[in-house]
Amino acid sequence: MIPTIEWRGKHVRMIDQRRLPQSIEWHTCRTYIDVIKAIESMVIRGAPAIGIAAAMGLALGAGSIKMKSGFKKRFDEMSGRMIKARPTAVNLRWAVERMGLVAEKMAVMPLEAIQKELKEESQRILDEDIEINKKIGEYGQHVVPRQAAILTHCNAGALATGGYGTALGVIRAAHEIGKKVRVFADETRPWLQGLRLTAFELMQEGIEVTVIADSAAGYLMRQKKADLVITGADRIAANGDVANKIGTYQLAVLARENVIPFYVAAPLSTIDLSIKSGDMIPVEERNGNEILYFGRRMIGPKGVKAFNPAFDVTPCKYVSAIITEKGLVKAPYRAGIKRVFAK
Ligand code: MRU
Repeated sequence: MIPTIEWRGKHVRMIDQRRLPQSIEWHTCRTYIDVIKAIESMVIRGAPAIGIAAAMGLALGAGSIKMKSGFKKRFDEMSGRMIKARPTAVNLRWAVERMGLVAEKMAVMPLEAIQKELKEESQRILDEDIEINKKIGEYGQHVVPRQAAILTHCNAGALATGGYGTALGVIRAAHEIGKKVRVFADETRPWLQGLRLTAFELMQEGIEVTVIADSAAGYLMRQKKADLVITGADRIAANGDVANKIGTYQLAVLARENVIPFYVAAPLSTIDLSIKSGDMIPVEERNGNEILYFGRRMIGPKGVKAFNPAFDVTPCKYVSAIITEKGLVKAPYRAGIKRVFAK
């Protein structure tokens, strides 16, 4: 499996996810601004992956600082800009804060030592993420029957993380222990992460996958063709409400209507304890042209308006369980989330 993102000497390189699956191209970032632009423009996407990219970006930024005096001020400025790259996935803020703690802890050390430690911390964030996803997979595979058709949305796979994936990690783990899993992947308009990335990853893994139009999910469920739904998350509030790719909310409601369990797989770094409920989660609105164009071609009538929220919020009452690296959290979520953090 190709890595999503890695250090290459002094630079950071990431697979350009806008080009997949037609071509596998590396995108090299030499400065922290390059990383911000890569996150904004979807070269790299997926909550844990953009957290890792932000950490590596800050290490790049720290590496460019020439003098110890004023280091912290400059580093904090860079952190402030990095946090704004995309607003919904809290993993980005989480990673920036973790890097900030290292910078603070190392403040008395020589400049080179601080820079080295920040680079190493960003690598640790990546390595830990893969381990966390494997744990999510181990816990999560228990909810997958021996034979199962699983519906998923967007891409919560290796490409959206340091590797292995969250929702796809659960599917991967079930497959690895011999369960017969078949996946339905929502195409996930407008960026088509399901069609381009999830289908690509699962096919590489030899896991049966069928792509459906987003609007076919209700029909699929009513036809009893899906046994469960598993998605990732971009931010989970302290009460268990889940922000994820636009279209997740309707899947969760449809799953409830059709008596199908709806699971969310996410690391603890996706849970934002500072936010009481999903209503407070900032939802990114992207350029309407992402809806109106297919590639470079405008499809809609000239001058038409488009509304393009990138995420939605699923109230926790629709979530059967949140699968974390410390185990499953079930309703009542506020208490369950507190417990899992205390483990
Ligand atoms: O806009 P994207 O592609 O960054 O959105 C990604 C998602 O919504 C994923 O489901 C989420 O980040 C979880 S990834 C493990």
